[in-house]
Order: sequence, then C-alpha cells, then structure tokens
Amino acid sequence: MNIFHSRLLSVITIFLFSVFAMLVFFGAEVAYPTLAQEEASPTPEPTPEFDQAAAIAKIRDQIKGKEKLPAGEVFKNVKDFAQMPAERILAVMEFGYAKSLGVDCTHCHTPENWASDEKREKKIAREMRAMANKINGELLGSIKEFESRTGRNRPVVNCTTCHRGAVIPATNLGK
Ligand code: HEC
Ligand code: HEC
Repeated sequence: MNIFHSRLLSVITIFLFSVFAMLVFFGAEVAYPTLAQEEASPTPEPTPEFDQAAAIAKIRDQIKGKEKLPAGEVFKNVKDFAQMPAERILAVMEFGYAKSLGVDCTHCHTPENWASDEKREKKIAREMRAMANKINGELLGSIKEFESRTGRNRPVVNCTTCHRGAVIPATNLGK
C-alpha cells in the first residue's frame, strides 16, 4: 500500500466515523419527533378557575335597582322565569340548578354570556323544567289520595328529587 492509498483510507475512515457520530448525536431528534414537537408547542393555558361567588356578585351588581322587576324585563333571554323577580333567578340558578346537579354555572353557561343558549345543558335544563312541571301538574296532581294536599304541602318533584347532586341521576343505590 503506497502513501496515497493509506491517506485515502484514513480520509474515508474519518468521514465514516463523522457520519456515524452525527447519527448518534442527532439521532435523538430524528428518533423522537413527537416528543420534540410536544416540547416545542406551548403548554396550553390552564382554564382560569371559575369563581362562582364572584360571578353571582357581579350579576347582582349589574341588576342593581332592578332586583324586584320581572326577570323578563331585566335579563335578555329568560323564558321560564319571565315573571319571577330578577333577583330570585340567581337563587334558582345557584341552589335549584347548580347545587342540585352538583355543578357550577359553567355546566350550562359560558360565563359573561349568560343569555346565550349555545350549551346543550342549558337547553336540556329548560326541557327538564317542563318535564318536572308536567309530572307535578298532570301526574302527581292526579293521584287521588293526594287530593287534600294543596299549597306548600302539595307533592312535588324538582331537580333535586332526581339529581341529588349528580349530573346523571342514579338508577340504583348499589348492593
Ligand atoms: C342546569 C343548568 C344551569 C345551571 C347550572 C345554571 N344555569 Fe343559569 N340558566 C339556565 C337556564 C335554562 C336559563 C334560562 C331560564 C329561562 O328561560 O327562564 C338560565 C338563565 C340564566 C340567566 C339569565 C341570562 C339572560 O340574560 O337571559 C343568568 C344571569 C344565569 N342563568 C346565571 C347563572 C348563574 C350565575 C349560575 C351559577 C350560579 C347559573 N346560571 C347556573 C340554566 C342553568
Ligand atoms: C324525574 C327525574 C328528573 C327530574 C325531576 C329532573 N331531571 Fe334532569 N335528568 C333526569 C334524567 C333521567 C336525565 C338523563 C340522564 C342520562 O343521560 O342518563 C337527566 C339529565 C339532565 C341533564 C343532562 C345531563 C347531561 O349532561 O347529559 C341536565 C342538564 C338536567 N337533567 C337538568 C335538570 C334540571 C335543571 C332539572 C330541574 C328543572 C332536572 N334536570 C330535573 C332526571 C330528572
């Protein structure tokens, strides 16, 4: 082997060694593209914690002076509770609806956009109220043995009767 050949051999060796080294060095990037992408994409903003008490206080503030007016005149999209004093709607929302289902306002509303009907849960809530009214009026009300029970003593179902703090009411109580 002459000097030219041995130089050529060492050049080739160095070249191959560099290629190998580069593969090892950058291999991680090539081998785990998803990990690299995950690291590159910004961490999603955590949803800001919903402060129900603050939300209610803010609405109370917005309806100041109009608390006793019919809700239909004070709020934008009230159908079920149009005749109810505006301030009472907030109690219905907090205790009758949110607490009964074990949720907060955001289950049915996009906060700050209370009048919107975009959430299916809000639409279902209206249907549920119609259902409960029907049970109370047509079914419970027609049970003969209850005929003497009127006023506050009349038999009723409401959201709490079925939901008891759960979005999906229980159908059995376990064994
Ligand atoms: C289970 C679903 C549900 C939950 C939970 C709920 N709401 Fe509602 N909300 C409704 C429905 C349904 C209406 C419309 C009632 C009607 O048509 O009279 C409504 C209407 C309203 C309105 C009137 C908006 C307008 O301008 O028309 C306000 C304000 C409101 N809710 C606030 C709240 C707040 C505050 C909470 C939490 C404490 C809350 N809601 C929780 C279902 C819900
Ligand atoms: C007679 C029992 C009963 C009463 C009263 C009742 N609900 Fe329901 N509710 C149900 C049942 C059953 C479902 C369906 C659960 C399922 O998906 O399997 C349901 C489902 C719902 C859902 C949808 C849950 C989801 O995310 O799919 C909402 C919202 C709701 N009810 C709100 C209310 C509100 C508000 C009231 C009072 C106005 C009410 N319900 C009264 C039995 C009742």
